[in-house]
Amino acid sequence: MMRPPRSTDEILTALARRADGPFEDATAMPPEIYTSEDILELEKREIFASEWVCAGRANEIPETGDYITYTIADQPVFVTRDGKGNVRAYANVCRHRMMQLLEGSGNRKRIVCPYHAWTYDLGGKLIGAPHMERSNAFEKKNICLPEVNVEIWEGWIYLSLNADAVPVVETLKPLAKIVERYSMSDYIPVVTEDHVWQTNWKLLTENFMEGYHLPVAHKETVGAWIAVEETEFPKKVAKGFTYQSFVKESTATYGVAHKQNKRLKGKWRNTSLLPSVFPSHMYVLAPDHLWYLSLRPDGVGKTQIRFGVALAPEVHKNLKDVDSFVENLVGFFRQVNEEDRQVVEGIYRGARAPFTQPGALSWLERELHDFMKYLAARLTVASATSSAEHETRQAAE
Ligand code: FES
Ligand SMILES: [Fe+2]
Repeated sequence: MMRPPRSTDEILTALARRADGPFEDATAMPPEIYTSEDILELEKREIFASEWVCAGRANEIPETGDYITYTIADQPVFVTRDGKGNVRAYANVCRHRMMQLLEGSGNRKRIVCPYHAWTYDLGGKLIGAPHMERSNAFEKKNICLPEVNVEIWEGWIYLSLNADAVPVVETLKPLAKIVERYSMSDYIPVVTEDHVWQTNWKLLTENFMEGYHLPVAHKETVGAWIAVEETEFPKKVAKGFTYQSFVKESTATYGVAHKQNKRLKGKWRNTSLLPSVFPSHMYVLAPDHLWYLSLRPDGVGKTQIRFGVALAPEVHKNLKDVDSFVENLVGFFRQVNEEDRQVVEGIYRGARAPFTQPGALSWLERELHDFMKYLAARLTVASATSSAEHETRQAAE
């Protein structure tokens, strides 16, 4: 039967009903959550512009002037290391006529706008601008790039446009206890890539959070190494993140501690953790490597993906041929990612279809319910507030 069209409030009410009820009764999210332009606008404002997002790893920019770029809710940002060794982030938009200053990644001791060469130092201050001496509106000393909040947590660079965002260290305190045994800030980055997939960003977050699909969609790759029935979830649902852990077979090619790894003991030597830090940062932390995804919506059906890989220091140190190891490892992940791309792009097409109805969830999809709670908490209150404001405005007119 065809789904009748629903308003944003009706879609969010349907989401909240599932999120508030017991997990055992839950079905997948309403399909419109993935396809509605209004929901995307709400997400940009209430989630991406308000929360912390991950731009990469601090040791991807080790030297003064190294930089990477990122976008948060339409705001281009660059992240750099200043002369004192601090990681700092700025609006990546020139203060003259709004040209984007930097693209991709690289190293600059000064940032020179590619349009008319206004030049900024690594503290964001304007230090040069040609042919401006006749302009009364120009006051060089007052011109600075707006600074974006940065927090480094376990080697991750988190950014927020919101000066009042709850510090990452507070939200992730319960996770710190679990991940610190791996010392992941010492992992050495070997690959960072950006990709674009034709799907809604939340389908990728959800796909990462459930191992139910592993033996099926990944039967050619990781599916064979993981006994999904042994998946463990934390008993308590946390607010800003979720995670699960997997024990890999000791015969697995990747995911087992190197013999020189003295940090991990017992079962931890072949346990991988899979944290999802809401809204859009997910990673697999294994004893020998880590890989991550950081997502940005670019329209309802398009997602920008930053994908990175890092190796545990003892793995990196003992490699005879780093390049060929990395090529094999990354080639393997590319295959896994391709398997995921097929399914998350397929679900997006499914979510748009008029006959689509969400189905019941398996116990292996527990984290999808955690994510629903997170989304409902942020989106339903915001939507109710903006409807109330709209009504007050209308009454006043
Ligand atoms: S826009 Fe940057 S110098 Fe003109
Ligand atoms: Fe997958």
